[in-house]
Amino acid sequence: MAHLGAHFAFRSRWQKTDDELCRHSTSFILHRAIRNDFFQCYLYLLENIPLVKLYALTSQVINGEMQFYARAKLFYQEVPATEEGMMGNFIELSHPDIQASREFLRKFVGGPRRAGTDCALDCGSGIGRVSKHVLLPIFDRVELVDMMESFLLEAQNYLQGRVDKEESYHCYSLREFTPRFGRYDVIWIQWVSGHLTDKDLLAFLSRCRDGLKDNGVIILKENVAREGCVFDPSDSSVTRDMDILRTLISKSGLLVLGQEKQEGFPEQCIPVWMFALHCGRLS
Ligand SMILES: C[S@@+](CC[C@H](N)C(=O)[O-])C[C@H]1O[C@@H](n2cnc3c(N)ncnc32)[C@H](O)[C@@H]1O
Repeated sequence: MAHLGAHFAFRSRWQKTDDELCRHSTSFILHRAIRNDFFQCYLYLLENIPLVKLYALTSQVINGEMQFYARAKLFYQEVPATEEGMMGNFIELSHPDIQASREFLRKFVGGPRRAGTDCALDCGSGIGRVSKHVLLPIFDRVELVDMMESFLLEAQNYLQGRVDKEESYHCYSLREFTPRFGRYDVIWIQWVSGHLTDKDLLAFLSRCRDGLKDNGVIILKENVAREGCVFDPSDSSVTRDMDILRTLISKSGLLVLGQEKQEGFPEQCIPVWMFALHCGRLS
């Protein structure tokens, strides 16, 4: 706890300088740079994780949490409820994406000390592209959660009634959604984690952990930045680098069982990675 006290003591001291220095002066800019570096080194040494880097980079790029979420909603209101819409107009990547997802998933389900094949949850499902091509061929039951009602309505046609209407469609933001305790063999989270702030993603991953059955796994599939955290104002999302993602994963109490880079995407695309996460109890 001592370092926290010191951290706040320094912060309030620097705050005073902040208030007194001219915001346009070179001294002010230098002062801020030094302050950031100081806290990065300080907490890195004490906590042995790039904690400050994580918060400094990710939260700095999100200008106003409410705006961040509101703008994403506005963006998806204009996205057609089609496979093209879900793929951000890169429909040609859907096939290699599905193939790689199926192969990756196969390594973690079925058989002893692996996840079962009873029930899966597709988070940020959109119209259910992943449910249809990756999850439904394997699991007896699949549930979908997405913040857009229009996508979930379309999912009922798209999935041709293969998903129970009454209890399997959850229209929620992942910020508010809590998977039912101990219900799922696999929780799939693809191309949606960048729509959550660090704090919300961390809390969501922890709630997902509680939603797993014994030997259950979370599959996180996401764009991964080469360095730092990159904000995309067009859809109001962030792309995190590997360090930031892995720090969030470990802080949520999950372990990485396996990770793999998506192959077969063009060189110029942002790298996409798949992570299989579990809570550390395999029986
Ligand atoms: C790029 S699409 C990906 C859809 C699907 N995972 C796939 O791979 O085909 C992102 C999806 O995340 C949903 N989404 C974005 N922010 C969300 C949030 N905060 N809570 C729940 N869903 C969200 C969008 O409505 C959209 O359906």
